[in-house]
Amino acid sequence: MSVKTKTITVFRGDGIGPEITAAVLRILQAAKAPLDYEVFDVGAAVYEKSGAFIPDDAFASFEKNKVMLKSPITTPIGGGFRSLNVTLRTKYDLYANIRPAKSNAAVRTPFPNVDIVTFRENTEDLYIGEEEKIDDDTVHAVKRITRRASRRIIRDAFEYAKVHGRRKVTCVHKANILKQSDGLFLSVFHEIAGEYPGIEADDKIVDAVCMHLVMHPETFDVLVMPNLYGDIVSDLTSGLIGGLGLLPSANIGDGYAMFEAVHGSAPDIAGKGIANPTAFLWSACMMLEYIEENEIAAKIRKAVDETLPNTSVLTPDLGGKGTTETYVNEVIAKL
Ligand code: NAI
Repeated sequence: MSVKTKTITVFRGDGIGPEITAAVLRILQAAKAPLDYEVFDVGAAVYEKSGAFIPDDAFASFEKNKVMLKSPITTPIGGGFRSLNVTLRTKYDLYANIRPAKSNAAVRTPFPNVDIVTFRENTEDLYIGEEEKIDDDTVHAVKRITRRASRRIIRDAFEYAKVHGRRKVTCVHKANILKQSDGLFLSVFHEIAGEYPGIEADDKIVDAVCMHLVMHPETFDVLVMPNLYGDIVSDLTSGLIGGLGLLPSANIGDGYAMFEAVHGSAPDIAGKGIANPTAFLWSACMMLEYIEENEIAAKIRKAVDETLPNTSVLTPDLGGKGTTETYVNEVIAKL
């Protein structure tokens, strides 16, 4: 029987990017995922050689294949170039950033019952990069919130809740201070919530959410929020389940989808062979589910669940004594 293969664009990134990309591609191959790959190096090192952070043929590949697996890319702080992540999200209007944080029985944390999915608006808010120097001592940054962008992310959160049988969607905001911008996001939330009478809708101020998340994370279900809060709060949810090495994500737009770990390029451990590939692997599972290869995704998720209790093969961030390679070998053995 011939299986139709789908071609995926892969951006290898830098820091631990190349290590976790190799790890995940090995596992996808071992799981017999019916995929072909077009792999590109992107980032500062590529710029030094070619004059472009993302080469034209890499963009063209994504425009053809529409699905990308992207490993982390370093962004300089302060001066230098605009984040390539933000560039990709805006260029392809990947407006919905979905970040599921779920406790795993094998990873010991004080919070065994976390099951939170963050829907982060991905294209506006303070991330539009409109900053203006007023004088030597003053800088302004624009926070843009639009009805259109708020509507589509909030609707996606409710649709997700409906399809996945989730009980509650919480809007996270700061409308007590940012009365117009977050006020607009919040009013759109309540308008759309009215169309989903079977799903509980509540709203909370972002600082209170952070406190409740570290005290009673099990009370949260689906969260939806503007870009900046989504960036911060979702990292917090990764801490609840065992760290950044365990938080995958999807960036979805109309027709395009990019899957990546939430963590960055981890320069402090790059090249040491100890990067945890789980978040990137689970991102690949989200990608497989997006292209309706559910069985392969389930097979990989099961192999990871069977691997996580074996601390001798896990990477140090999970309290293990192993390396990226021992972890990958074990997942492949379980497959
Ligand atoms: P980071 O997420 O790279 O690292 C934070 C901490 O978590 C570090 O101690 C790191 O060693 C650890 N960590 C992260 N991923 C890990 C993994 N898979 N296994 C084991 N430990 C892991 O955040 P940081 O250091 O603030 O950012 C480094 C660079 O990455 C920056 O240039 C930043 O802009 C960029 N970045 C890129 C992202 C992307 O490409 N999507 C997302 C976030 C940051």
